[in-house]
Amino acid sequence: MTIMKKVLVAGASGYLGRYAVNEFKERGYYVRALVRNSEKIKTPGPNMEPAIYNIADEIVTGDVTSPESLNGLCTGIDIVFSSLGLTSPDWKHNNYDVDHLGNKRILDQAVAEKVSRFIYVSVFNEDKMPDLPLIKAHELFVADLKASGLSWAVIRPNGYFSDMGRFFSMARTGHMFMVGEGEKKMNPIHGADIAMVCADAVNGDSREIAAGGPDIYTFREIMEMAFLACRKSTWITPIPLWLAEGALTGIGLFNRNLADLMSFAVEAVKFDHVAPAYGSRHLKSFFEELAIALK
Ligand SMILES: NC(=O)c1ccc[n+]([C@@H]2O[C@H](COP(=O)([O-])OP(=O)(O)OC[C@H]3O[C@@H](n4cnc5c(N)ncnc54)[C@H](OP(=O)(O)O)[C@@H]3O)[C@@H](O)[C@H]2O)c1
Repeated sequence: MTIMKKVLVAGASGYLGRYAVNEFKERGYYVRALVRNSEKIKTPGPNMEPAIYNIADEIVTGDVTSPESLNGLCTGIDIVFSSLGLTSPDWKHNNYDVDHLGNKRILDQAVAEKVSRFIYVSVFNEDKMPDLPLIKAHELFVADLKASGLSWAVIRPNGYFSDMGRFFSMARTGHMFMVGEGEKKMNPIHGADIAMVCADAVNGDSREIAAGGPDIYTFREIMEMAFLACRKSTWITPIPLWLAEGALTGIGLFNRNLADLMSFAVEAVKFDHVAPAYGSRHLKSFFEELAIALK
């Protein structure tokens, strides 16, 4: 008789987390999903990521900023997968509190329970943006993970289709601001495709895996594609980098956490983000599906 391996998915209510729950289930794992609010996973997410309430075997509620809510999280677990991170503004907590300290609390339990592998989702091009708070927090955790003694994998995606969904939302309003000239390139990846990369990382040596999707576009081309999918004329207003950086400084005076999160969007447009290609899902189809879903 084969014994079903148990995986903990932390960040299971998020864009990637939901696809990860789905993917691990399809591969025959028992899935424990960590969420803050189980109501949220009863319906699909804003970028059509699946409702996983009836897919996960076990749903545990907890908040990584409240250590007592995590008791027993890794008990009986073989593999931990975490795509848990702070991706939208929060008045109380910052990337350090969530991405580093929060994931470290899960890691401490994983070490105590002697799990066989810990798979963590960080960011691609981390070496080009080392001073950004988001990158610092992710990499502090990566350093802890590597020092933990556990077998590990670090996934480095360049950008998900959910992030491209933000361009789509702006295109629907008929107008978009673009930081810089939009000439840098990237190959974003669908949640289902990056979830497969993550599940594949269960086996093998400890390693880092950079991953993007099958098609390379400039930022401007992605925006134009979003306008086309929602049948609007392209209307993009470029914001010079110096102005965007000045605005960040101003925002930082009122809300440091918001400015820290926005700094990623401003810094990221300075480089190409072309990562090794995985997956088969295309951004054009994703935008067309979004257009139909949001009609
Ligand atoms: N988006 C991209 O293009 C991209 C690219 C490269 C790397 N990444 C990284 O990939 C990871 C996943 O991204 P994503 O787009 O899937 O993010 P997401 O949709 O925002 O999901 C983040 C998950 O973390 C959970 N979470 C946040 N704070 C928490 C807390 N205090 N306690 C417990 N859970 C908490 C969220 O719960 P709630 O649902 O309750 O908020 C959600 O389940 C992030 O670390 C991100 O930095 C993202």
